[in-house]
Parts: sequence; C-alpha cells; structure tokens
Amino acid sequence: MLHDPNRVYVFDTTLRDGEQVPGCQLTTPEKIEIAKELELLGVDIIEAGFPVSSPGDFNSVVEISKAVKNPTVCALTRANKGDIDAAIESLKYAKHPRIHTGIGSSDMHIKHKFNSTREEILERAVEAVKYAKRAVEDIEFYAEDAGRADVVYLAQMVEAVIAAGATVVNIPDTNGYCLPDQYGAKIKYLKENVKNIDKAIISVHCHNDLGLATANSIAGLQNGARQIEGTINGIGERAGNTSIEEVVMILKTHQVLGLHTQIDSKRFYELSQMIRTQMRMPVQPNKAIVGSNAFAHSSGIHQDGFLKMRENYEIIRPEDVGFPSATIVLTARSGRHALKFHLERLGYTLDKEELARTYNDFLTLADVKLDINDEDLHALMVYKLVKN
Ligand code: KIV
Ligand code: ZN
Repeated sequence: MLHDPNRVYVFDTTLRDGEQVPGCQLTTPEKIEIAKELELLGVDIIEAGFPVSSPGDFNSVVEISKAVKNPTVCALTRANKGDIDAAIESLKYAKHPRIHTGIGSSDMHIKHKFNSTREEILERAVEAVKYAKRAVEDIEFYAEDAGRADVVYLAQMVEAVIAAGATVVNIPDTNGYCLPDQYGAKIKYLKENVKNIDKAIISVHCHNDLGLATANSIAGLQNGARQIEGTINGIGERAGNTSIEEVVMILKTHQVLGLHTQIDSKRFYELSQMIRTQMRMPVQPNKAIVGSNAFAHSSGIHQDGFLKMRENYEIIRPEDVGFPSATIVLTARSGRHALKFHLERLGYTLDKEELARTYNDFLTLADVKLDINDEDLHALMVYKLVKN
C-alpha cells in the first residue's frame, strides 16, 4: 500500500498525559470504556499508560491491549531498562504494540534534571531505543522539552535515535513555551537537516501553558510533522494538552492545508461528555468545538444574522461534531427576530405590533431573570392576554 503523505496520524494521550491531572484518575474498567470509544472515534494510537508507575497503570495497559484491535496501543517509559521491561510485558496482548521512550533534550533538563551532559544523554537515548527495539518493532522516541532545546543538538539526537530504530520521533513542547512560528521552524529544521528523517514520522506534542498548544500543533503539521498528540477536551498537566477535537476540526475546516485524519468527528461531543463525567473535570462553556456555548448565539446582531442564514455565524455545523443543535439563547441582548423565532417554535404567531409590545415585556423580564426559557415565554404570553 502506498503511504499517503497527507495523512495525519492521531495519537490520543487522554489516558496517560490527561489522566495525570489531579482528581482525574480512572479505574481500569473506566479506561477500557474510554479506549473503546477512542477506537470508534478512529484514533490511530492510544497511549494507555505508564506501566512502571503503578500496578494499576500496568494492568490498564494489559486490559486495554486486550480490549481494542485497530489502534496501536502505546506504553510510556523513561529511558531505562526497568521501565522498558515493564512496558514490554504490559503490551504482550496488544495487536499493534508501541513503546514510547525518551529523555530530556534541553540544556535545562540535561543539567538541572539529569545532572548530566549532552553526550551522556545522547548515549542513553540511543541505548533506550535499541533496548526497546529488541522486543517491539514500533518505537516512538520523545525528546522531552524539545521546545526549549538547542535545535542543532535536537537534530543530532533525532538522527541518532532513528538510526537506532525509532519509527516515530516526538518533539514535545513540554512546557508550552514556543510561539507557533518558532515551533514550526523547529520541525522544518529537523525535516531539512536530519539525514534519515524519511525513515520516521515526526510527531507534535504540545502543552497549553500560553494557550498555544493547538496553534503550535498546526504549525508543526504545516512544516512536515504527520502525527499529532493530544487529549479530548484538552485535559492534561497544568493548562493541559492540545485538544484533539480542535486540531481535527481545523484540518477539516481549512482543507487548503491538504491534510486529513481518519477521525469520525461526529463522535466528538458524546466522547467529550463521557470524559467530562468520568474524569470529573468540567468543560469550560466557551471551549472550542465541545463547550456548551460553542454553538449558542446570544447577541441580537448575531441571532438576526444566524436566522437569516446560519453560515453568517457558523463555520462548523454542530451536527459535524455530534453537538445536539445550535441554540438561540434569549437574554436582554437578544433582538425581536430571536424572540419571534422562539415564540413561533412554541406555537405563538404575533403580528408586528403585538411582537413589539411583547418584546418590551420580554426585555423587562430578561433584565431581571438574565436568561429566558420556554416556561418564561409561556408565562409572558399569559401575562399579555391578562394585560390586554
Ligand atoms: O510533555 C511531554 O514531554 C510528555 C512526554 C512524556 C512525551 O508528555
Ligand atoms: Zn506531555
């Protein structure tokens, strides 16, 4: 089969980077349920856990390996034999196993986390990949804190781990530090200067400390990366990881980028709700794609334009992400057009003058009650009858 150069692989780490969030820990059965939904969503790789970290995490990787068949199941390790042995053991039932091993690549991490040198870290990186490769063919290497690493050293590291057998090279912006053009330039540099780069896929793994995780991931893809790592709802350490739903919908919306995934986007909303509930992590109402207000129109100007033609204020159709439907929210900022729309939906047809009078009563009520529901509209119509 010919490799499609425009295909972007989606690597989901909701169950690993996402699950590291305090209060979001899941039981193995909960993780299995989510993994099955991720399989239906069409993700290519599920990072199922960090097996050496606890018996529970080890067991989750084992059980997820048994439960899914299409996606690659991936286990995280540090660059040491103990971690890698645990990962190999935990993946023994996986149809498509992958080991994700790696080490710090920035001088900050090399000096202040490992108390080591660039040369020694490079050696450890290569050894880890070779050690993992004895047992598993598919090896992803992560150069932790690559966002702050010296790009020439990073290129040297990437070349060495590919020569040692890495099939995917992950360039994490671990601290969410980069600007999109800096991150994109880093990926471009690797693409153009690492001799054996055609033997591996470049992966982007961005954190959201400056709110740039999605923008940085897209910049990486525009410069040659073909795997994107992220989580549903963007959950993850600190300010979170890249939201998978955002990247997928950007690629769909901007077809000019010429990139595509195999994700069934209609499943996003339901899965988002499931993650929210199981992980006890609310989704902010204005969260792109899956937030409760993502398709809610509330100002009079927007409502009027939306009711004339939805594309005036809608660049994504709610049904394309499985969202129940667009909503016209009634508040004191709403116009007559929106009020008429809701009254007609409830069976009330008003002429122009009646609507004008009702609109004044509506504004008086909305200033006090803030948002108006169907019950309020019925009450408003009864009040109008009594008043007249
Ligand atoms: O953010 C990061 O660098 C990571 C690695 C372990 C891949 O999560
Ligand atoms: Zn991460």
